[in-house]
Amino acid sequence: MLKIRYYGDPVLRKKAEKVTEFDSDLEQIVKDMLETMYVNSGIGLAANQVGILKQIIVIDTGTKEKPDIKILINPEIVNCSKEKTEYEEGCLSFPGLLEKIQRPAQITVKCQDIKGNICEFDADGLLSIVIQHEYDHINGILFIDKMSPVKRLVHNKKLSEIKKLSKEKK
Ligand code: NI
Repeated sequence: MLKIRYYGDPVLRKKAEKVTEFDSDLEQIVKDMLETMYVNSGIGLAANQVGILKQIIVIDTGTKEKPDIKILINPEIVNCSKEKTEYEEGCLSFPGLLEKIQRPAQITVKCQDIKGNICEFDADGLLSIVIQHEYDHINGILFIDKMSPVKRLVHNKKLSEIKKLSKEKK
């Protein structure tokens, strides 16, 4: 089990580096990230959120009975639709904070799998949203950055509470 980093932790603002070794260490990180995501009832987790500055994302938009796991290494969003969609997003680094965020509805992703094979696929719906959210994480971008100043102001109190929590955890 890895420790989730909360808003206020500088690691969340750093850009993650490309994975170059597709070895058993990577497999272990992915395993630990999945476990950490499930324990915290998340549907996506980026390595920055557990203090690892590598371009690794784990996602499961399925159910307990029917998991739908996606492991994205070194992902790139190579195409975005003009059409936008809005979804109420949460983030394991922002406990208790939910807000509607607008993003492109469809995307094309190029990435590597856990063995290093290159893959490219289209995503829409919830999967598209989760990939974009996690992709932002590995680039040091957080979902509060996508909120209007007014919405952010509404969450100001909650944000300072989370920041405090982040300091206490250290
Ligand atoms: Ni997040």
